[in-house]
Amino acid sequence: MTLRDPNIETMGTSGEGAAQPTAQLTFDGKTFELPVIEGSEGERAVDISRLRGESGLITFDPGFANTGACRSAITFIDGEKGILRYRGYPIEELAKRSTFLEVSWLLLYGELPTSEQLENLKQEVTVHTMLHEDYRRLFDFMPKSAHPMPVSAAAVAALSTFYREADTEDRIHRAIVRLLAKMPTIAACAYKHSIGQPTMYPRNDLDYCSNFLHMMYGTPCEEYEVDPVIAKAIDLLLILHADHEQNCSTSTVRLVGSSQANLYATIASGISALWGPLHGGANQKVIEMLERIAVEEGSADVFLRKAKDKNNVTRLMGFGHRVYKSYDPRAAILKDTCKEILARMGGSNRLLEIAMRLEEVALSDEYFVERKLYPNVDFYSGVIYQAIGIPVNMFTVMFTLGRLPGWIAQWLEMRNDPAFRIGRPRQVYTGHEQRSYPTDRG
Ligand code: ACO
Repeated sequence: MTLRDPNIETMGTSGEGAAQPTAQLTFDGKTFELPVIEGSEGERAVDISRLRGESGLITFDPGFANTGACRSAITFIDGEKGILRYRGYPIEELAKRSTFLEVSWLLLYGELPTSEQLENLKQEVTVHTMLHEDYRRLFDFMPKSAHPMPVSAAAVAALSTFYREADTEDRIHRAIVRLLAKMPTIAACAYKHSIGQPTMYPRNDLDYCSNFLHMMYGTPCEEYEVDPVIAKAIDLLLILHADHEQNCSTSTVRLVGSSQANLYATIASGISALWGPLHGGANQKVIEMLERIAVEEGSADVFLRKAKDKNNVTRLMGFGHRVYKSYDPRAAILKDTCKEILARMGGSNRLLEIAMRLEEVALSDEYFVERKLYPNVDFYSGVIYQAIGIPVNMFTVMFTLGRLPGWIAQWLEMRNDPAFRIGRPRQVYTGHEQRSYPTDRG
């Protein structure tokens, strides 16, 4: 039996009459021609969708590290060069010049909104922020000690019990607006419930992020005066988190959504996937790590020795990425924002100093250099959240607020894809072969 590496032969990729490039796989004396498809930024993928039918072979790729699961026109990442673009626009420009609602529209509908479209979206989102009073009581039945992530996931899934299936274009639009509008209210309710305070009703005179801050920190006894610098910092954080192509939670959303499950339930599955410490939950773990270093370890160097030790489970949280093998562009933006916010707030820079020292040592350490491990988006975001007063267990909920339009955009794209099929990977079975049931039982 011989298995040769696929030999990609580019026989022409464009132009009239150009043959489609193919790869050849030789196995068991037979050669199979596999079409090679090419994306707009030049990435090439061997299309193995018919391989099993023709050869009996499946492909094996634990963690889907080298598997393209869909064609997508939403987000482009070049992990080697540290490039991230939404619908073609560099993240750096969007961060500087756009707002979160503009970026949400861009992700969902492919173009930046006109001023009329943006005004309509703002208006629609503003008038859908309230929660049905029966629904609001849901929070009363959750333990106060519960982490706000499962509370948010449960609450978003429960929207499906209050609103109709998103099964027509009009209902899909309303569901999208409801999700964007109610997610900050749900997040703030989860927080207020955990600290035993009454929930705050949204205010229609405030913008998206200011309204969220009002619901988080206002009380019936005292109006919360929103600091525009903090509201802007949150808007920036939401933009930076808004989409990241086929990551763990987005792939979860696509997989769950591929069964044509209810949209709210599908988004709730994305929230659950995001909670994990190897994914969005890393932002909470980073700040816990920095605090532990400040109190216990004494120095970044001591901690890094543990993170490199294969007999120790410690990892440098907020470092490393499946796709980025250079500096995550979101982390670069956040590092600068972090310095600005801390200078503005006048608080302690201790955690930022530890983070910067960790980064400096790690980036010149052979272990991290060899493995191309760089700071990811979660490395500096927690320091900012903490500086602006977001409670640590709400960090990943903040990530959820940001990622929401990306999940929905990916769900919409999947739904409208002519190649749409239910997601259903295969496996290589390694268990027992058929055996007889023991005769001495039952
Ligand atoms: N600290 C120490 N070593 C690390 C780290 C880290 N943070 N990340 C990766 N490594 C090492 C691994 O031990 C492995 O070493 P080995 O080749 O000697 O076995 C090598 O680098 C490759 O790592 P993998 O775990 O195979 O990489 P993978 O792509 O599967 O995982 C992940 C990526 C989960 C992000 C990983 O880097 C990690 O655990 N980072 C810390 C958690 C984190 O920050 N997650 C947030 C990611 S961003 C996001 O999801 C929003």
